[in-house]
Amino acid sequence: MINVKNLNKTYGRGEAAVRALKAIDLEVENGEFTAIMGRSGSGKSTLLRLIGLLDFPTSGEIYIDDTDISKLSDSQKTRLRIEKLGFVFQEYSLINEMTLLENVCLPAMCLNGYRSNDYRKRAVELLSVVGLQERLHHYPHEASGGELQRVTIARALINQPRILFADEPTASLDITSAKIVLELFSKLNREMRQTIVMVTHELEDRNYVDRVIWLKDGFVDTEPPSSGCETKLKIIDSNRWHEHMSSPQAN
Ligand SMILES: Nc1ncnc2c1ncn2[C@@H]1O[C@H](COP(=O)(O)OP(=O)(O)OP(=O)(O)O)[C@@H](O)[C@H]1O
Ligand SMILES: [Mg+2]
Repeated sequence: MINVKNLNKTYGRGEAAVRALKAIDLEVENGEFTAIMGRSGSGKSTLLRLIGLLDFPTSGEIYIDDTDISKLSDSQKTRLRIEKLGFVFQEYSLINEMTLLENVCLPAMCLNGYRSNDYRKRAVELLSVVGLQERLHHYPHEASGGELQRVTIARALINQPRILFADEPTASLDITSAKIVLELFSKLNREMRQTIVMVTHELEDRNYVDRVIWLKDGFVDTEPPSSGCETKLKIIDSNRWHEHMSSPQAN
């Protein structure tokens, strides 16, 4: 379904150049739930953006359903993205002036125009699947973070994408909401054979997926990094912060 050969991505030029991805080869099968993991800066989001057709590689090949992406014009790529790919990101990017139901309908309107009303029924079904059937006509500011993330999942699924991409979909959620989102992904994968590619920092998320692709400094690695890949900021507790600030070295 996704086939990547010798993929490279360099940001910037000359001395400022950053080689974010180096000679990546990978395949994702139809119906697979794959996680991309690795330390901060290892290239996970870059890889997801490239295979999600949101950015261009510096070199290398990407095939989606045997289509060579480099052969497509910009408008063909946009069409393929709307028709076949769904995206869930950490930032919800919902439209505040639209209800949750209208937000979910939006990608379907882009594809089908305003006339078709079939997508409205599907949007209601999807919002029920994610447990928000009571909140259809609420606005984003009236929903919690976990609920908004579930709206973005429904929105990502409205056009029945072949592949669902998610970049740290649970990073800003509390443990309970994160579990709901992951269990939802797992259910979609098991019951609807939804292909999912998810970037995550959380080692426990390995329990939900079929396979992990480990990235290290822009390369695919065969094993996890020696220490964990969590990048959560270690907040110094207030007493230690106070001690630190009043120590002679801090002044
Ligand atoms: N637009 C950009 N311009 C220059 N360098 C970039 C750009 N985007 C990413 N990079 C660099 O490319 C490398 C890979 O970044 P990327 O965002 O893919 O990492 P990541 O694994 O997703 O990290 P994190 O876990 O912190 O989200 C990093 O060194 C980053 O600084
Ligand atoms: Mg990232």
